[in-house]
Amino acid sequence: MPRPVLLVPRRLTADVEERLQREFDVVPPRDEVAAGVDMRQLAGEVDAICPTVIDRVDGDLLRRAGPRLRLVANFGVGYDNVDVAAARELGIVVTNTPDVLTEATADLAMTLLLMAARRAGEGERLVRSGNWRGWEPLQLLGQDVTGKTLGLVGFGRIGHAVAERAYRGFGMRILIYTRSPVETAVLERYGARQCGSLYELIENSHFVSLHSPGTPETRHLVDAAALRRFRPGAVLVNTARGTLIDEAALVEALSSGTLAAAGLDVYEREPEVHPGLRELENVVLLPHLGSATEQTRSAMGHRMLDNVAAFFAGLEPRDRVA
Ligand code: DGY
Repeated sequence: MPRPVLLVPRRLTADVEERLQREFDVVPPRDEVAAGVDMRQLAGEVDAICPTVIDRVDGDLLRRAGPRLRLVANFGVGYDNVDVAAARELGIVVTNTPDVLTEATADLAMTLLLMAARRAGEGERLVRSGNWRGWEPLQLLGQDVTGKTLGLVGFGRIGHAVAERAYRGFGMRILIYTRSPVETAVLERYGARQCGSLYELIENSHFVSLHSPGTPETRHLVDAAALRRFRPGAVLVNTARGTLIDEAALVEALSSGTLAAAGLDVYEREPEVHPGLRELENVVLLPHLGSATEQTRSAMGHRMLDNVAAFFAGLEPRDRVA
């Protein structure tokens, strides 16, 4: 049987690249990837596309690709970059890579929470600037994390992993806002309470961390009105999708002090970052690093290729989302 041809528009970790060469035919040649890949041009010549979360696979691309294209195997758990409705309509299967990035992303949410609470970005910039004049009793005073209340918006795998860290590691009280009911046993495991509304969660949390998928329904979930409901001194963390927050409203809330600080790994229009955010001291800005460890990115690549291999072996891929 001929090997399936995959369109893989980004270079992946060495062991994933090695498996790609061993098990599949791949376009474009790997030394051409760095120059940028026009997926539209190549989509018609391949059996599967393996986009990353920043590679947009829209309905137009899928329709133009024609009947050869049968699978979109996303490198990432979020798949808002793929027009899933168009894929369904065309009978194209879509898969993602859940589980393998849960721990790394939860670690990064805690990193941002701690950095924002303890003003670590400001401190780092001060030391690097050469202007630090030594320890002072009132220098860069942040906020305690231990024992405070953490509100989790969205409670999937990553939300659970953040609850685990915050509850066991930092003795935080956990509040949860998610549409489906959370089992009592799960709530008890984290000493958590499920809130009936987003505002109830926001009004009762010192820290709020977002873990919902990026969908039309969650767009601007945290808007100007929601930002006004935060407690004085509250901190907002986002490792999910930038579209969950109205970035212009966030700039306003951080500038006016309605919100004490924020820690962001994702943005509304990546890689563009609202210029107002870049000017503010009280926001920690990371470049979408949630899953960025060598081990996690390799595990994502293998999970993606496991889905591809299963599909072309005539099996149901484990992570089918459409
Ligand atoms: C994902 O998989 O959705 C992440 O955002 C990539 O790090």
